[in-house]
Amino acid sequence: MALWVKRGTPLVFCILLALLAKGLAADRKLSITYNEQCDIPECMGSHLDNQPNLVHVTGTGDNDTVHFLWSSIGTPTFLLARTTHEAQLVVNWAALLQDTTTGSISFKPADSVLYSSALMFTKLIEYNDTEDDGMMKSKDVLVPTVLNGLQWQNTTINQTEFSAMFNTSLGELGDYGTIAMKLTAFSDSGRLTSLPHLPHTENSTQLDLTMQNLTSNYVNTRFALEMMVVGSSNGSGGVELKQDTTIDDQYTPGTFSVLNLKLPNSPEGSYLQWKPVSYVLTERTMENARHVYQYNLDTKRDQIKMPNASIAHAFFSAAEMVQVGAVNISFGITKDGFFKKTNYTSWSASFGYGKPPEEYMTLTVYIVISVGLGLPLIIVVFGGTGVCISKHRQKKRNRSLLTN
Ligand SMILES: *[C@@H]1O[C@H](CO)[C@@H](O)[C@H](O)[C@H]1NC(C)=O
Ligand SMILES: *[C@@H]1O[C@H](CO)[C@@H](O)[C@H](O)[C@H]1NC(C)=O
Ligand SMILES: *[C@@H]1O[C@H](CO)[C@@H](O)[C@H](O)[C@H]1NC(C)=O
Ligand SMILES: *[C@@H]1O[C@H](CO)[C@@H](O)[C@H](O)[C@H]1NC(C)=O
Ligand SMILES: *[C@@H]1O[C@H](CO)[C@@H](O)[C@H](O)[C@H]1NC(C)=O
Ligand SMILES: *[C@@H]1O[C@H](CO)[C@@H](O)[C@H](O)[C@H]1NC(C)=O
Ligand SMILES: *[C@@H]1O[C@H](CO)[C@@H](O)[C@H](O)[C@H]1NC(C)=O
Ligand SMILES: *[C@@H]1O[C@H](CO)[C@@H](O)[C@H](O)[C@H]1NC(C)=O
Ligand SMILES: *[C@@H]1O[C@H](CO)[C@@H](O)[C@H](O)[C@H]1NC(C)=O
Ligand SMILES: *[C@@H]1O[C@H](CO)[C@@H](O)[C@H](O)[C@H]1NC(C)=O
Ligand SMILES: *[C@@H]1O[C@H](CO)[C@@H](O)[C@H](O)[C@H]1NC(C)=O
Repeated sequence: MALWVKRGTPLVFCILLALLAKGLAADRKLSITYNEQCDIPECMGSHLDNQPNLVHVTGTGDNDTVHFLWSSIGTPTFLLARTTHEAQLVVNWAALLQDTTTGSISFKPADSVLYSSALMFTKLIEYNDTEDDGMMKSKDVLVPTVLNGLQWQNTTINQTEFSAMFNTSLGELGDYGTIAMKLTAFSDSGRLTSLPHLPHTENSTQLDLTMQNLTSNYVNTRFALEMMVVGSSNGSGGVELKQDTTIDDQYTPGTFSVLNLKLPNSPEGSYLQWKPVSYVLTERTMENARHVYQYNLDTKRDQIKMPNASIAHAFFSAAEMVQVGAVNISFGITKDGFFKKTNYTSWSASFGYGKPPEEYMTLTVYIVISVGLGLPLIIVVFGGTGVCISKHRQKKRNRSLLTN
């Protein structure tokens, strides 16, 4: 026995260390570049406020690489591609900036791309919520603004947290407001410390969208966004929007559901995941949380009004956009004072490869629930058995008393 312990200790140590190292090691190695290969005058400097922007995050894993391309050229769009390790990004900048010609963004060799999809933010919609119920209705005054061709400020890249910040001021639309989109990539699974604590993986990115100081042109102005997803599919079906409900979300208290916009594919597709919650002040607290409504998903190719320029158009040909889905979401809830109450709304979502993470309950929650449910059960069962036994014994005693 003593001998076994002596011999076994280093082995046990090794196994523990190996497990620990596996737990600590990142699942993907990330790198981030900005406007790579751009040698045309537009990237060289003079018009600083309207530089083209193309952020490229590469996540290298054991067996494959995921690429995230973020850009506001044309329509703000986030593209993801899962490729083999050989894949090299090739950008034809002149063609990209001219009209986002198909093929101006590609990977070399062509067969290195295993899967790809994209998310676009196509419209900002102002609506006068006449009945103050939060919902956008066709009888409300609706003013859609196409988010195509806006001027975006120089993108801010953070090399340590692998994030990029895109800001635009809507001045050219006669508005004083700004829209900001922050994108963050991750090397492994986890959650950000800020609400709504969305789960992320090494295959997904988080988007934090902020609308600030947009002009309220109506008494009851609220804002809504139109989003579109496109994907290449090998016949696994169309885009779906599913709402999963939970008893309560321990990560986002007071929120009872999660929305998953899925692009099915074989073996894996991609998804956009969000919780129906937004925040009306920079401080993301439960008090500052407001509801986010989602509307019907449109998947009819001929009905959806696609933008005509984006990095999705630069990558996919029209024929490759097999799956399409468009959905509106609106921000605010009855009696919250409308957008003008704070002139600020922020919302988060995550876009990634694979299956959307499920909001599972942790072990502690299970233990608490088990103890909560189990203890009374134990008392009932054991107590009941005890009572039965003692009753039985009493009967027996009574019977023996009678026979004797
Ligand atoms: C890579 O592939 C091997 C063999 O198929 C598999 O065992 C391993 O889990 C894969 N690694 C990842 C990170 O998917
Ligand atoms: C996209 O459409 C707008 C007008 O709707 C037009 O001004 C622009 O030139 C078009 N862009 C391309 C690339 O076709
Ligand atoms: C907006 O809604 C409010 C409240 O119902 C209403 O008084 C106002 O006339 C509406 N404005 C327009 C332009 O419809
Ligand atoms: C624009 O942003 C890029 C990336 O963050 C940076 O390298 C460049 O210096 C910036 N240019 C200006 C003028 O701020
Ligand atoms: C980048 O992000 C890290 C982590 O959030 C932060 O500590 C750092 O200040 C940021 N760097 C810049 C230049 O903003
Ligand atoms: C972009 O917008 C965010 C949120 O409104 C703000 O915190 C940040 O300072 C802005 N960045 C620039 C460069 O304007
Ligand atoms: C990320 O994708 C790889 C395949 O490329 C897969 O093996 C891995 O399980 C995925 N990670 C998560 C957390 O889903
Ligand atoms: C929004 O407006 C407030 C108040 O007028 C101002 O302090 C703030 O700087 C503005 N923010 C942006 C991003 O324009
Ligand atoms: C929000 O902006 C409107 C103009 O659209 C302004 O009248 C109102 O005072 C602002 N509200 C706050 C809280 O700053
Ligand atoms: C889609 O492609 C994957 C891998 O390339 C393959 O395993 C799967 O059978 C294909 N599905 C269909 C329906 O063609
Ligand atoms: C989103 O709302 C706008 C305005 O009501 C409408 O024109 C557009 O068709 C809607 N988009 C979808 C996908 O339903």
